[in-house]
Amino acid sequence: MKKLTILVSAINAVGHSFEGKLKKLGYEEYVYSIDREQPTNVENKPDDTKIENPGERMAQLLLKSKIIGPSSPLEKMEQFLTFFEDPLQRNEYKHQNRGAKEAIDQFNPDLIFVDTSLVPVIYYSNIPWIKCISTTPNFFFDDSTLPPPGSGLPINDNTDWHLFEKFRREFTNSTPLANLIKELGYEPYPDNITFPETQLLTVYAYPNELNWNQIRQKDWFNLEFVEDSLNNKWSGKWIYVSMGSMGSVDLDLMKRLISALQNTPHKYIVSKGPRHEELELAANMYGERYLPQTKIVPLVDLVITHGGNNTTTETFAVGKPMIVFPLFGDQFDNAQRLEETGLGARLEPYGFTEKQLTDKIDHFLNDQAVLEKLQNASKRIMNSNKPEELAIKLEQLLCKDN
Ligand SMILES: *[C@@H]1O[C@H](CO)[C@@H](O)[C@H](O)[C@H]1NC(C)=O
Ligand SMILES: *[C@@H]1O[C@H](CO)[C@@H](O)[C@H](O)[C@H]1NC(C)=O
Ligand SMILES: *[C@@H]1O[C@H](CO)[C@@H](O)[C@H](O)[C@H]1NC(C)=O
Ligand SMILES: *[C@@H]1O[C@H](CO)[C@@H](O)[C@H](O)[C@H]1NC(C)=O
Repeated sequence: MKKLTILVSAINAVGHSFEGKLKKLGYEEYVYSIDREQPTNVENKPDDTKIENPGERMAQLLLKSKIIGPSSPLEKMEQFLTFFEDPLQRNEYKHQNRGAKEAIDQFNPDLIFVDTSLVPVIYYSNIPWIKCISTTPNFFFDDSTLPPPGSGLPINDNTDWHLFEKFRREFTNSTPLANLIKELGYEPYPDNITFPETQLLTVYAYPNELNWNQIRQKDWFNLEFVEDSLNNKWSGKWIYVSMGSMGSVDLDLMKRLISALQNTPHKYIVSKGPRHEELELAANMYGERYLPQTKIVPLVDLVITHGGNNTTTETFAVGKPMIVFPLFGDQFDNAQRLEETGLGARLEPYGFTEKQLTDKIDHFLNDQAVLEKLQNASKRIMNSNKPEELAIKLEQLLCKDN
């Protein structure tokens, strides 16, 4: 199959805080730089050096311009539109256009995803582009039978709709944007439309039950919801993986485990250990160098472990099944006893096959009889008070001796 080069152009979101996000999913990645000019008259400018997470920059801007805060929907809409006309935003748009031009020149993409803000270099490039609407789909939709976007007004009572009408027009046809596009040396889009139609495809994501009839009828593609976290994408169970501080140092072993687990429908929390920086997790995994294991184990459905003393006893006490890859010492015995009692599995860390592992995972996630036995054992352990029993026992023994 031909390898496609795809450019993603996202409103105010591209930039270095996104670096690495797509690479993890197996894409080659090139994040084009937005060397933001520093407008002298804008106090709102967030401190880029402190921004680590995608979307954080936008969130800070919205907070500072009071779009996030206690004012009314109408006041916020006023703020919102002046916000996008301020010099800072205009600069962002210019840089977005320049960045997209650089990327087009360098990669000659086969397809461009355009999220919400279409820059002219893309519109006039003749490269097919997909129109992605990452707001509710009513925003760039010119239909006066619907309540104005962002008003939150009821569909069956149009009394106050007129208060927002001018904003509806600004969203669909914008003179300030047309001026900006002219400044950049291009023809404004037909009718000064903000987000023109694409010949290829329009994509949005909104639950069909909540969608407006008028939009449902368009031949737009509704993703309904966007899988963007472990929890959404992998519908399976949560599994905790810890090979202990010793086992996790064996990178080959960790990599074999990761590669065997990455094709399962489950979500993993991985204790990465001392060589965390060298360990690349799969897309269905989350991990850190240190994790609060005793807090996590009670919440997961299964534990994959080296079978050290602590992990084994802690996991058993909260009634979770274990798959053990013993590495040395008492770990072999823990693994063997779990296997023999049917309350867990023992696998050979340097000789296991992917199928053996996935079979065991399936078994221990689904065998209700085993899970009930483990739960029963956990209840018994949790309801007992062994330290107190020990104290009583000692007292009895000492009294007898006297
Ligand atoms: C489009 O924008 C220009 C300014 O760039 C303005 O002069 C013109 O009146 C606008 N046309 C429409 C139809 O809004
Ligand atoms: C094992 O548990 C004991 C008692 O809870 C703790 O003191 C010890 O540090 C733990 N050992 C490891 C290797 O985590
Ligand atoms: C073994 O685990 C038990 C229970 O978590 C803990 O109390 C004990 O300290 C551990 N022993 C060692 C040698 O880590
Ligand atoms: C778990 O405990 C309940 C209540 O004591 C008992 O009825 C049930 O048989 C036990 N289940 C297993 C699998 O041992």
